[in-house]
Amino acid sequence: MNAPMAGHAGPGLATAVTLSGGFGLIGCELSASGIRSQLQQASETLRASSNPTIACAELLPVGIGLLPFALKLEEIAPVLEEAKPAVAWIFAAEDVNRYSEWATAIRKVSPGTKIWIQVGNVTTAVQIAKAASPDALCIQGADAGGHGYEKGASIVSLVPETLDTLAREGITNLPLLASGGIVDGRGVAAALSLGASGVVMGTRFLASKEVNIHPLYQASVLEARDGAQATVRSKLFDEARGPNPWPEVYDGRSLRTQSFQDYVEGSGIEDIRKLHAEAVSQEDKGFATGLKGRAAMWAGTGIGMVNEVEDAKDIVDRVRQEARNIFSYTATL
Ligand SMILES: Cc1cc2nc3c(=O)[nH]c(=O)nc-3n(C[C@H](O)[C@H](O)[C@H](O)COP(=O)(O)O)c2cc1C
Repeated sequence: MNAPMAGHAGPGLATAVTLSGGFGLIGCELSASGIRSQLQQASETLRASSNPTIACAELLPVGIGLLPFALKLEEIAPVLEEAKPAVAWIFAAEDVNRYSEWATAIRKVSPGTKIWIQVGNVTTAVQIAKAASPDALCIQGADAGGHGYEKGASIVSLVPETLDTLAREGITNLPLLASGGIVDGRGVAAALSLGASGVVMGTRFLASKEVNIHPLYQASVLEARDGAQATVRSKLFDEARGPNPWPEVYDGRSLRTQSFQDYVEGSGIEDIRKLHAEAVSQEDKGFATGLKGRAAMWAGTGIGMVNEVEDAKDIVDRVRQEARNIFSYTATL
């Protein structure tokens, strides 16, 4: 699966992933009309597919990312009723009750749509599982690119501890997906070994042909090595843009930027905001290679293994084959 990366995973990427036998997710637009338009475009592509399972599927075989803190449920529900996406992916609600509110409303207007919720700690995962009865939880590790829990852990401990804790609570049939730092078949095999039922990759698809991305952002993704050093989690990336709209518990992992460097060296937030605003108004939109840009370039720690822009289909095929090879090999040991 590709992650529903807001502003980057459009219908082009999501449909390419679905058509290659994966499952594509569209990133959240910040208006009902934007979401409607993305789903319509995906529908036009998928309904024209020569694969009858896709073309004639009852539900639109893509997912749509939703950020409750930035959207109005009453405006989004009619769009989902109309488009009937196979999955509604919910992330970063202000509190656990909001997940439940969104899940109930979506199920009412589109009963077949599966509810997937992304979460980054065991306690909240269990609370969400009980309150919102999701069809799957995506367990997001701290290696993930983009926004996530400021207090995080990698999927190595998060996935098995979440499974164990859910089981102790009597929840044994809830599939977990894993995200964060997975860019190839080794990551997939590791996640499945930890107990995940599937994986979600964001950063790997930033180097796909179908992603929407500024050329300097993509060049920075290809250039970066050593994700532990080239990327960093911080709230600064949001605060540099102005008042931070994200719920308090979230920060985000980006490639290091000049603004982050200035912050480390003691610059005040007002100076950082001024320089950021100037930079993003330039032709390069504040993107630059060499970790010199000021615009956030969300990316996960797996970035050092992302070296080539490929068709989404080739990424899906190769990653899947690599994971299969690992399991075939380990079965012989
Ligand atoms: C550029 C970018 C944008 C993202 N935007 C969103 C988003 O809008 N909604 C969401 O639920 N997750 C978003 N994420 C996080 C992903 O869902 C996922 O957790 C992450 O990409 C997994 O880690 P990886 O990037 O190491 O594969 C984003 C990630 C990236 C890299």
